[in-house]
This record gives sequence, C-alpha cells and structure tokens, in this order.
Amino acid sequence: MSEFDTKLVHGKSQNDNNTGAVNVPIYNSTTYIYPKADSKVRWDYERSGNPTRNYLEDQIASLENGVRGFAFSSGMAAIHAVLALFKPGDHIIISSTIYGGTFRLVNEFFKRWHLEFTKVDTQNYQEVEDAIKPNTKAIYFETVSNPLLKVTSVKHISKIARKHNLLTIVDNTFLSPYLQRPLDLGADIVIHSATKYLSGHSDVCAGVVVCKNKQIGEQIYFNQNAIGSTLSPEDCSLVRRGIQTLAVRMDRHLSNSKLIVEFLQSRDEVSRVYYPGIPGTRNFKIASEELDGFGGIVSFELKRGLDAKAFVEHLNLIQLAVSLGAVESLIELPYKMSHAELSTKEQLAAGINHQFLRLSVGIEDPRDLINDLAQGLDYVSSLNPESVVKASR
Ligand SMILES: Cc1ncc(COP(=O)(O)O)c(C=O)c1O
Repeated sequence: MSEFDTKLVHGKSQNDNNTGAVNVPIYNSTTYIYPKADSKVRWDYERSGNPTRNYLEDQIASLENGVRGFAFSSGMAAIHAVLALFKPGDHIIISSTIYGGTFRLVNEFFKRWHLEFTKVDTQNYQEVEDAIKPNTKAIYFETVSNPLLKVTSVKHISKIARKHNLLTIVDNTFLSPYLQRPLDLGADIVIHSATKYLSGHSDVCAGVVVCKNKQIGEQIYFNQNAIGSTLSPEDCSLVRRGIQTLAVRMDRHLSNSKLIVEFLQSRDEVSRVYYPGIPGTRNFKIASEELDGFGGIVSFELKRGLDAKAFVEHLNLIQLAVSLGAVESLIELPYKMSHAELSTKEQLAAGINHQFLRLSVGIEDPRDLINDLAQGLDYVSSLNPESVVKASR
C-alpha cells in the first residue's frame, strides 16, 4: 500500500473505459444503459451512483482509513445524512462549540423530528459521562472547534462512547485527513465540509462522510440516495483535484501559520493569540498527542480600544470573507460575520468579543501576509495609540 501523500494523488482506478485517461472523467450522464431488461448493472441512475463520485468516495475512504465514503452537495448535507441515522426519541451528546450551521440543523430541524441533544464541554470527560442517558446513541464533536480552536481528544471521547455503546461522530473539517484520521483514534464516522481544505480553492461547496463499519455505511448510503443531496460529477472532479495537492497545501498552511503566530505574539496591539500549537495549554497537549500538525487557522484578539473592524477593512492582501481552508488567506470578525446569528450573550459565553478575529492562513508568501498584518496593526494603533500603551501596562 502506498504512503499517505501518494494516496492523495493516486486514487483507486475506475477501469471503466479504455481511453487511458489519467484522471477519472466527469461522467455527465444521469442514466446508464441496461444491456438487457433484467441485467444487473453497476450504474443505473446518477443519484444512486456515478463513476466520478465513486472515485472520490473511494479516495476519501482510503485517506481516512474507513470502509466506505460518501460525497454530498455540502458539508451540511453530509451532517444531515449522518444525523438522519437516528430516530425520534434518540439522544445525542454534542460539543458546545460546534459550527453554527450544525447548531441550526440540530435546534431548528432535528429537534422537530424529536431527536434530543445535550450540549457539553467535550474537554470535560466527567461532563460527557454525566450527560449519557438510557436513550443516548452518539457523541458528536469537532476535533478543533470554531473559532476558539479548542481541541477535543478523539481517543478519550471514543473510549467513553465505546464503554456505553455509543457512536463517536467527528467533524474533521479544520484538520483534514492530512493532520488527523479520527477513525484510527476510535471514531466511527468522520465528516468534512469538503468546501474547505479538501477542495482548497474556494470554488466548490461539498461534504464528505467516511465510516468504519459496513452496516453503518449501508445506512448512510440509504440516506444519501433517499434524501438525494449528492455531489454533482463536476464538483466531485473539483474535490478530487483539490485532494491531490492537500499535502503540499497543508505543509504551507502549517509553516505560514507558525510564522504568523510568532509575529502576532510579538505585537503590542494583540492581547491574545489562539492556536493549538502554542505550548502550555490543554489544547496543545491533546493536539501534540493526536494531531500531525496544528492546522492553518489562527484566531486572535486586539487589545481593548483598538478598532477590529477598521483593522480588517484596512488589510490589502488578506481578504475579508467567511469560510476557510483555501489557498488564499481569509480573515473575518466572528461577532459580525460567521457567528452573527448568536446573541451578544451567547457570543460572549462562547468567548467571541468584538476584538476577536479568525484568520484562515493561506499559502501566499508569508512575508507578504506578515507585512499586510503589520500595516493593518500600525493603522489601528495610529487611530488609538493610547489603547496599545495603556493595555500593555
Ligand atoms: C466545521 C464545519 N463543519 C461543517 C460546515 C458546513 O459545511 P458547508 O458550508 O460545506 O455546508 C462548516 C462550514 O463552515 C464548518 O466550518
């Protein structure tokens, strides 16, 4: 079997035509011929299966070391298909720091279908154990949370889950299989918004799911085909292409992030930097044990009195936009953008104040990124020099 980086470039060959194409073609056919009315055909209808999608699904299953992969039209569609494994009356423990769209799906959709949810701090194992009830079926979390970048131990949580016969479901969007393979650490199902690192170019919206168990795979396939939120062949091809360069992109995301963390820590305008790679924290300890790198997202807070809105609007190279995991650097103000749906009270409880920024570090030359951040910080401190001095005393 090939090494991980080779597997990124070479998925399983489809061997279903004789053209010798290096890449799996985009099969733009919604229907396939039956040689005879009673023939058992491999492909019959687009939603039920497509060779381009099949290639991507095998590719992601192989990277996550699972038995079966699935491609969906968005990360949310992938999460929907997984949560649709459960039935009314089932209870699921979820991390209190999951993506806002997942909260919306849970609170405003699945609760209507009588699924019960309890939010817990997944770094607090006692709290997780205490939340388990007779009808609990699963524990759901993101290894690295958004936007505070808290790290949850897949090993510990899946150990608790196994003890109580629960499924462990991990959203691995922030890390990608290059930095963590949750199924190897004990999880049962892994989900990605493939819109992010897997695709890597902010040009496709997609989701993937990989499972460890054949029977669960059959149920997810049923949901995928029955609900119908499959990824189009064109988009499957874009995700496939993105995956081929995952290793080289991630290496640059990692090295750029490290330099940016060091730079931000050196600046008087910055009161705190959040990154799993900063030693001395619980996040660092878990990340060092279970991750192959600390990721490409860096969050930070400007000192009180400095205008975070003026800062992001003054950046030239780094784009002001939500989303993450692409080749270009993106910055956002969570309280106004990605987490605007939360009330101020909920935002503050989640650690998101008006000084808090999330930076998705791209693969540009790090000197240009640092120069851009530096001129933005110089600008906001020139607007209010007192704040920098006062707050640093
Ligand atoms: C951690 C995480 N999971 C899931 C999603 C949803 O993915 P999508 O936007 O592809 O539907 C996002 C989107 O930002 C995310 O950050």
